[in-house]
Amino acid sequence: MTYVITSACVDVKHKACQQECPVDCIYEGDRSMYINPNECVDCGACRLLCEVDAIYYEADLPENERKFLTDNAAFFAEILPGHDKPLGTPGGAIDCGPVGVDTPMVADLPRKGC
Ligand code: F3S
Ligand code: F3S
Repeated sequence: MTYVITSACVDVKHKACQQECPVDCIYEGDRSMYINPNECVDCGACRLLCEVDAIYYEADLPENERKFLTDNAAFFAEILPGHDKPLGTPGGAIDCGPVGVDTPMVADLPRKGC
C-alpha cells in the first residue's frame, strides 16, 4: 500500500510534504509532486501537512482521484518525456532533484486559474 498525491497538488506544489517524509520519497515533477509507491512506508506524515488535502492513503482515495494511484506509480515505472529510462527507485528525492516533467496524464490537465 502507499499514499498518493492527487489533483489538488497540480499547479500548487506547497512541498511541506516533501520536507517531512522520513524516507524522502516525494519527488518533484513540473506541475505536481509524486509519491514513489515502492519507497513510501505508509507513515501518513505527509497527509497531515498538506494544506489542500491532496494526499490520500491508497484505500481512502475518492473514486474521481483513483487514477492518481496508477499515475503516481507511472511517474517512476514509465519512461517520462525527455528521459531514456524509467526513474525506478532513486532512493531519495532530494538527491534526485526536480525531475522537471510530468506524466502525460498530469501534463494534459487544464491549468488551474486559466
Ligand atoms: Fe502538493 Fe500538498 Fe505536498 S500541495 S507538494 S501534496 S504539501
Ligand atoms: Fe513519505 Fe510517509 Fe508520506 S513515507 S510519502 S511521508 S506516507
